[in-house]
Amino acid sequence: MDVFRTVDGMQNHADAVRASGQTLGLVPTLGALHEGHFALLRRALQEADHVTASVFVNPTQFGPDEDYDAYPRDLEGDREKLESLGVDAMFAPSVDEMYPFLNEAPFGQPLAWVDVDRLDEHLCGAYREGHFRGVATVVTKLFHACKPDVAVFGKKDAQQYVILQRLVEDLLFDIEIVGVPTVRADDGLAVSSRNAYLSDDERAQATVLHEALQAAKTEIERGEQAPQAVVETMDEVLAAAPDADVQYAEVVDARTLQPADHLRPGQRVIAALAVFFGDTRLIDNVFVDVPTET
Ligand code: PAJ
Repeated sequence: MDVFRTVDGMQNHADAVRASGQTLGLVPTLGALHEGHFALLRRALQEADHVTASVFVNPTQFGPDEDYDAYPRDLEGDREKLESLGVDAMFAPSVDEMYPFLNEAPFGQPLAWVDVDRLDEHLCGAYREGHFRGVATVVTKLFHACKPDVAVFGKKDAQQYVILQRLVEDLLFDIEIVGVPTVRADDGLAVSSRNAYLSDDERAQATVLHEALQAAKTEIERGEQAPQAVVETMDEVLAAAPDADVQYAEVVDARTLQPADHLRPGQRVIAALAVFFGDTRLIDNVFVDVPTET
């Protein structure tokens, strides 16, 4: 497996792959790779001839009070995992390489950013100011560095997935976005690097996220059309976990990410949650098709 630490090196490699007539797949990650990432990588290996995984803890998507410094980093472990999966290249740039102007005088910050309006108003976007600007910006830069035909993302981060889909549509990126279903532990908890922060007791309680979302899905599929009733159901299930501190439980349209007063037959919606256990913030969601009236 090739490892590239510079944008130049990565671009030259991508140009060579494309010149040979092969297609390129990209799986962007923050590293600390786990089963969720593996599912994306396997999918990318099916979708494209040649797969690059990027491993980059992107500073611009972490808020000042978030876990940028503490975020787990294990580049050598990640390299071994990628190699054993059969990934062709790892792109692991430094912060200076990706953001040459981050701390550069006179401005002390980059001047060009990518913003996807409106889609960041609800769900995580309402609580993580600037987060999706950081994500859209770094993903744009990763696209320019890695030049993929196809890029694979997890639906675990539903808002991120929908925003990036819209990004490529609005800005005419010639890149196909593929979404992969959430990988879960046997008891339903979505796999996440942040699960490692949970105590045994919190880990046991954390199954309420999946349970609440399943209850929401069942209720919508049985014909409930009042989002507020669905949200109340989720809140009731979450209340069974004494240490769960709910940040949000919402039902939004799957394309606009706006809440609705009333669910429409045929509408695709996302029920989504963010829940704290102590300092650990977990998110999860489910896509549901509102049944058409018979
Ligand atoms: P990261 O949290 O490392 O996730 C990388 C990709 O793995 C994302 O597309 C995410 O949705 C997916 N993923 C994580 N856990 C998953 C699970 N249990 N099942 C399926 N997919 C899962 O998301 C990011 O990094 C960053 O924001 C990034 C896109 C790399 C930009 O910096």
